[in-house]
Amino acid sequence: MKNLMNRRKFLKSAGALMAAGSLPISLVKLSFADSRQDFTFAYISDSHIQHISGNKFVRNWDRGLIRAVAETNLLTPKPDFVMFGGDLAQLGTQPELDHGAELMSKLRYDKVYYVMGEHDYYLDLGKYWEKLFGPQYYSFDQKWVHLVVLNSILTDDEWTYRRWPSGEQRMLEMAGLDNPNGSPFMVKKSQRQWLQRDLATVDKKTPVVVFSHSPLQKIYKGWNFWTDDAEEVQNLLKPFDKVTVVYGHVHQIQYNQIGNISFNSVMATAWPWPYPQSYAQAPSYLPKLTVPMNRADPFFERDATGWQFVNLKTGKVDVNYHLYDNSPRTVAFNEKTGRPEDTIYQGANKRIPPQTHY
Ligand SMILES: [Fe+2]
Ligand SMILES: [Fe+2]
Repeated sequence: MKNLMNRRKFLKSAGALMAAGSLPISLVKLSFADSRQDFTFAYISDSHIQHISGNKFVRNWDRGLIRAVAETNLLTPKPDFVMFGGDLAQLGTQPELDHGAELMSKLRYDKVYYVMGEHDYYLDLGKYWEKLFGPQYYSFDQKWVHLVVLNSILTDDEWTYRRWPSGEQRMLEMAGLDNPNGSPFMVKKSQRQWLQRDLATVDKKTPVVVFSHSPLQKIYKGWNFWTDDAEEVQNLLKPFDKVTVVYGHVHQIQYNQIGNISFNSVMATAWPWPYPQSYAQAPSYLPKLTVPMNRADPFFERDATGWQFVNLKTGKVDVNYHLYDNSPRTVAFNEKTGRPEDTIYQGANKRIPPQTHY
């Protein structure tokens, strides 16, 4: 344990030293836009508030969200809005959603937007969530950027409406990460048609940011790090100059570039998932670009969890990961290479070797 603490302290100070160094010239940002058009937002995701009984909830998941809300309130300058990336609740019950909404109500910001997660949805198909937070998919404009929120965790009608004897059973089947009784996520045709109509009114030079819960790309089907109609959604986004998709659900840092579309994941405040390649029995497609996080340290209950501060300066996102029990990381769009990159660890020789904690 002592050695472990020393090693962690060393890694933290090494990270701080690297962060203090100047950025390579390739990472200097060129901002063509009027700087008054810049804006920032905070991104909190996957709190998985879990009801035990009466007024008791799982303490650890509560603490993760409470801390993210408190830290977000302390940001200066203040972000323009706060986004919540889905899986507010663990099993979608009213006590869980109410308690999550109460913790989120401590945010001292006027604008808080919500994305639907599968843990919020499959008990009552989003009905109570809608009462608390509004429509399941929508769009809005913030300064010069068009922002779209999708519900990407839908699945086929047979699975949703006919397979399970109750909403509780359906929720339990979808809540298991690697349960073969689950079903692949989709945006589905009617929402894709809505998206097509929504985007038809947007100038192709307008930066577009899409928020989804599952990745709108295919990484690992077995854990639904996957959206089955991802390519169809990507096709609708192809005509735009600058597109970014920000997603939750994976509880780990991932980023990718597919054509004109940048992808950035966000962290959970509850717990980390392992990277899919740790499950060697099935193929996975973690983007090669992604510098993985080190394995979570079980001695630190908040390790590999956190929240994000997002800067939209060039119409592309810089995601600053606030990792509660680890060095912060920033994944920013690199104008020179045309893809998101870690601002410190992207080069193979810059990476910290994987830690083992036992
Ligand atoms: Fe989640
Ligand atoms: Fe999820």
